[in-house]
Amino acid sequence: MKITVVGAGAVGASCAEYIALKNFASEVIILDIKEGLAEGKAMDLMQTASLNNFDTKIIGTTNDYSKTSASDICVITSGIPRKPGMTREELIGINAKIVSEVSSNLIHFSANTILIVVSNPMDSMTYLVHKKTGLSKNRIIGMGGALDSARFKFRIAEALNCPISDVDGIVIGGHSDKGMVPLISKATRNSIRISNFLSDEILENIKQETKIGGATLTKLLGTSAWYAPGAAVSSIVQSIACDQHKMFPCSALLNDEYGFSDLCIGVPVILGKNGIEKIIELDLDDSEYEHLKQSAESVKKTNSLLD
Ligand code: LAC
Repeated sequence: MKITVVGAGAVGASCAEYIALKNFASEVIILDIKEGLAEGKAMDLMQTASLNNFDTKIIGTTNDYSKTSASDICVITSGIPRKPGMTREELIGINAKIVSEVSSNLIHFSANTILIVVSNPMDSMTYLVHKKTGLSKNRIIGMGGALDSARFKFRIAEALNCPISDVDGIVIGGHSDKGMVPLISKATRNSIRISNFLSDEILENIKQETKIGGATLTKLLGTSAWYAPGAAVSSIVQSIACDQHKMFPCSALLNDEYGFSDLCIGVPVILGKNGIEKIIELDLDDSEYEHLKQSAESVKKTNSLLD
């Protein structure tokens, strides 16, 4: 199993590290445009292999796409991250150009790969990759919901003062501060709805903290986060590489699912060797569906900036 990660910044490097730590891939290629950066990160990571007990071979390259040839899965993290106070949508101009170029280069050397898009604004970048590459729709996956759901679970466990392994929860909708739809009605602690344990005020607070999860970190770090994004990508990659059929909310091209078409937005999907094996349609309550609808409208508006 050969995996390429484009972008040797903090997200790309964390992603490569977590993939290696999980020890399921034979090879990870890290590619970056900055001279020597990917080679350096790859070498540094390889020098952890004997300490962290992995056999995955990590190779870095400065912009030589031929090294990515015949990759089973490619992850696109390239582009600029947001700075404090910025929305993900503000990155569209510069990142659209970069993601467009990167996806064409990847497809040139791995015509039938599965592409995972991390660059922001992620739902629009995923849509752009569909338009650019013409790959079948199950082979293009946007990473956002898996990360947002991990942040949701963190906030739920914090409010309940319990271990995260006790809680479950899912966030659908667009990967943006306003567009995320944390499904409070479906969140549980050991199969029991969290509304049994927490007041409406605390539930609302969990929802808000989840939605601004990325912005909170950007403010603290001065740039966007990398550990949780890297871990979320590696879990998605593992489910595909190992044909695990795990369910994650991911940005998928919809064709009338949830009543939406011709846009990519976060919905629960089953991930296996063909990428998106199935899109799961949930029964949503009225306010959640209304929120998802608004989110879809806002993603469409951002997509219109791609023209
Ligand atoms: C975040 C970026 C990856 O939410 O969008 O941290």
